[in-house]
Amino acid sequence: MPEENVRVAVRVRPFNSREKTLNSTLIIDMNGNTTQITDPSGNDEPRKFTFDFSYWSHDGCKENNGYYEPDPSKPNGKKFADQKSVYNDLGVGVLENAWGGYNSTLFAYGQTGSGKSWSMVGYGVNKGIVPMFCDNIFQQINDKKNSGDKTEFEVTFSMLEIYNEQVRDLLSKSSSRGGLKVRQHPKQGFYADGLIVVPVASYDEISKRIAEGTTNRTVASTNMNATSSRAHTIVGITFQQKFINAAGEETAKTAVVNLVDLAGSERAESTGATGDRLKEGAAINQSLSCLGNCIAALAEKSSGKNTRVPYRDSVLTKLLKNALGGNSKTIMIAALSPADVNFDETLSTLRYADRAKQIKTTASVNESATDKLIRELQEENERLKKMMESGNFEMIKQDDDDDDLTDEEKRQEKEDRESEYASMLEKNKREMEEMKKSFEQRLAERGDSDTDFNAVDAKKKTTPHLYNLNQDPQLSGRIVHFLEGENITIGSSSAEGEVNIRIVGPSIQPKHASFTVAENKWTIEPTAPHSRILHNGKAVGTKEDMVHNDRLQFGTTQFFVYCNPKERDSSKINYPDISYDDAQQEVARKSGLGMDKEAKSRDEALLQEEMVKAVPAVQQANSISEELDKKLKFEIVVVSPEGRGETKGRSIVMVKVTHLETKFEWMWPFQKLLNRMYVMQEMYDELLEGEDVKRTEEEDPFFDDMKCDFYIGSVKLWLKSMAYLIESKDQLSVCDYQGKEVGLLNYEIIPCDAKGKEYTDADDIFVEVPEELLGSKDGVHFKLKIVSARGLPMKFVDVYAKYTFFTGEKVYETKRLPATNNPDWKYEMKHDQADVSLPFLDYLKEGAIMIQIYGKQKIQKPKKHINTKDALLSSALTKGQMGAGKSKALDTDKVKYMMEAAFLRKRQERLEQKLHAMKKMLDEAEKHNKKKISTSLIKQIYNASTADAADKCIALIPQEKDDDDEDDVSPSAATVPVAVTDKKGGKKDKDSSSSSDSSDSSDSDAEKKEKKKAKKLRKKQKKAKKLRKKQKVEEKQQEKTALKNQSKLVRQNTQGKIPIVKKDEKKSSACILL
Ligand SMILES: Nc1ncnc2c1ncn2[C@@H]1O[C@H](COP(=O)(O)OP(=O)(O)O)[C@@H](O)[C@H]1O
Ligand SMILES: [Mg+2]
Repeated sequence: MPEENVRVAVRVRPFNSREKTLNSTLIIDMNGNTTQITDPSGNDEPRKFTFDFSYWSHDGCKENNGYYEPDPSKPNGKKFADQKSVYNDLGVGVLENAWGGYNSTLFAYGQTGSGKSWSMVGYGVNKGIVPMFCDNIFQQINDKKNSGDKTEFEVTFSMLEIYNEQVRDLLSKSSSRGGLKVRQHPKQGFYADGLIVVPVASYDEISKRIAEGTTNRTVASTNMNATSSRAHTIVGITFQQKFINAAGEETAKTAVVNLVDLAGSERAESTGATGDRLKEGAAINQSLSCLGNCIAALAEKSSGKNTRVPYRDSVLTKLLKNALGGNSKTIMIAALSPADVNFDETLSTLRYADRAKQIKTTASVNESATDKLIRELQEENERLKKMMESGNFEMIKQDDDDDDLTDEEKRQEKEDRESEYASMLEKNKREMEEMKKSFEQRLAERGDSDTDFNAVDAKKKTTPHLYNLNQDPQLSGRIVHFLEGENITIGSSSAEGEVNIRIVGPSIQPKHASFTVAENKWTIEPTAPHSRILHNGKAVGTKEDMVHNDRLQFGTTQFFVYCNPKERDSSKINYPDISYDDAQQEVARKSGLGMDKEAKSRDEALLQEEMVKAVPAVQQANSISEELDKKLKFEIVVVSPEGRGETKGRSIVMVKVTHLETKFEWMWPFQKLLNRMYVMQEMYDELLEGEDVKRTEEEDPFFDDMKCDFYIGSVKLWLKSMAYLIESKDQLSVCDYQGKEVGLLNYEIIPCDAKGKEYTDADDIFVEVPEELLGSKDGVHFKLKIVSARGLPMKFVDVYAKYTFFTGEKVYETKRLPATNNPDWKYEMKHDQADVSLPFLDYLKEGAIMIQIYGKQKIQKPKKHINTKDALLSSALTKGQMGAGKSKALDTDKVKYMMEAAFLRKRQERLEQKLHAMKKMLDEAEKHNKKKISTSLIKQIYNASTADAADKCIALIPQEKDDDDEDDVSPSAATVPVAVTDKKGGKKDKDSSSSSDSSDSSDSDAEKKEKKKAKKLRKKQKKAKKLRKKQKVEEKQQEKTALKNQSKLVRQNTQGKIPIVKKDEKKSSACILL
């Protein structure tokens, strides 16, 4: 039996409308068998992968009566892969295998919306592999039959879904809770016990069964919209050829074909991001992760390692065991999204596919004489019967270790075995009976699919009806309710005859609404006081007319489109197809959450997209909370990066959760709600089934930690003052997630030396141009003091502040102060940057420190008992509003500009003063008829930090010696000590005469004369220097006062008001504005 590798194909789809709106860039390229993916961030080199097939279905096609076919006139027309070419490569092979008696498995992998179903099942005329395979197999059977072949051909069909480790038979209307059991047969491997397997005689029959299975899937998933993408669907087709072999025995050649449409492969966001324990269990798709583990183990195995393959860890891998490591020819098709937003997911899909291609399977022909098969089954049953009678159960040999079981486990194991053997006995018996029957007999005995889909399709063309919308486009339009007669009622009531159309879901009343008709126009009207109905996104209060193509939402999960064929056919309007996304967008737009405007940027588009998902999720969470009386209210809030205490990023949707009785609040990342939603939906489902919906705190999606830290608000401290080494002491507003002021923060940023000695004004370390700091050997050091906060909300204890600096690697945190709304942290931290690089300088110039303030909420005793439903109904929720309001765009830029204006003013004053001094100097020189002034004096005048200091230097001009001899003394060669400002602004005395000292020692007379003159001048200047030092102390004092006045101005402007000082604030009046 030859070993062969799993064949792997990848396929990239076109951009969808959402990706077009986001102006997505294409990150996939294909060349022959090679697929290349480009990292949109540019961090990594493009990565190349080679597969058996790389299908380009992104562009280069044209529509021909709805069918997408290659358009050779377009640049990528030649490489475009249409449904037929994919089928020819992959499907035909599966078909050939089936004829040869080999088992085959074809599975589609990829994130939700990447095109798995497009390839497997297809849409409309763009039929996928499954229908084409079914069509072809019957065509070929008919051809054989017509050519006189005496072989008996038998085809059977089954369809199942795995959701949350439960197997649901999609051909069965009654879904038993807990689903079908997966059992292990010693010869046939794992199987779903009791799965309906129907014999089918034609393609038409198979497609009807597929429709039936898909409709059952839709009904089951309507209340759990988000779940359909988390289910795996397996279509099983068995093809058996019975013929008489050369030896005259009746022989059966059997092939099992599994067509697997896997759940969306998108990984739940990391736990770290949402910090939610519950999430792990809820969001992880055990079957899918286990499939990944099995593939990884099998890939290792194929490279010679002895690795255990964990098939038994999930239902999916049990059922696919043969496909993965046993007797099957296996093909995987990995569906890729072309857009940059999906880079991570797509790369992960490519890696997955790359690993899968290393797996080797060994398929063999399943051919045996039927007598022999029957005999084997009989023997097997004899053995089973004996074992059951004796009570001595021989363990079925397993791959894993079953040692060290406890007694209880052993007892359980024995019980399981007993029922397993009983089921196997039954299965074998059934198989023997079936084998003895002719196929015609079996066909005659099978129950017919109870829905006549053709009749429904015909009726849809003439009769007004509602059809469902589902998140999974495969499941939209599967449920149809005809509006016939004059009055149709709809609701959740199960009482006989109470409603015409029964729909179930959160917030659906027993008698929810009614439809009435007059002259072929249908109207809708609520029939219960709090019926939640949205008509084209707007709440319905009284009777409203409906028009063809109108959207209806009942409760929070049931979406329908109203179709009136006569109205449509007699109208000139070209009605668009409505998708689930369209309906969701409409609801979001009309929800009053500011979604009515077109997104201007990509960030806005991403936000809107989140909003479209958040609106139904929050509605649903609220209504399940109502149904279960969970006392929680959920609201959408849009939070800017500043609003959540971050310096970077875009505005995102968050969910504010309020406990209606205790008023306790949580802010959930939206993903946390989505993850918890799965469990909420499960609880709701249990409620419908009449089960006990109690959950432990750990497992309750409505429970959250009361001791968690709550984000109170933040303050953005621009660092610009440090780029000039100017201290900054201020009081700024603490703003919460909505940009509302919730308190004040007193802080100081003070430049210091490496040892932490704070610089004062007298040190005069102010730099005029920040670039002076670049590469300075002393580096930049400063202290950040978080002194205190004032007037924070009363409901917090253990209040603390935290922040990160520059690289963000370390989190700095103040101590936590118990019960106070005016915490005096007196926190102080020295920050050192030894190496002032360009990025660091940019950080100082343009960056900020976000000081985030957290606290714990005081736990209050509920004042009164509140019923969730009443409380939510009295809030704005019934009107379709579910937002806690839009957050005010936080104008942190204003603070930045005010701070910047203060620096600029200070700089400008300095420059003006210099200019003024220079002018005065020239006037003075002219007045005293001076032709020259010494460089050193000019420098002193130029560098004087106040006008007074400059004046005192200017006063020295009359004493300047106006000597022609000085003519050839160039400024650079001046032999006077010149005050040089070093990079940090500190002054050093430099004797630039050293250069002449080291020159030739035999000085000329002229030089001697020159030296003498210089000495005299030095003396004079020493005197002047002393005088200036005294002046400088005075200047500094003046400058300090000026600066204080300026920062006062900034404070007033940034806050727009003068804060009220509370009693205990008087003590710390240094920073409080009075
Ligand atoms: N090759 C393709 N050409 C055109 N449209 C596609 C293609 N693949 C997917 N689509 C569209 O993208 C959407 C998602 O595809 P679908 O197959 O349902 O994704 P999945 O099953 O992976 O969730 C559908 O609306 C489908 O029509
Ligand atoms: Mg799908």
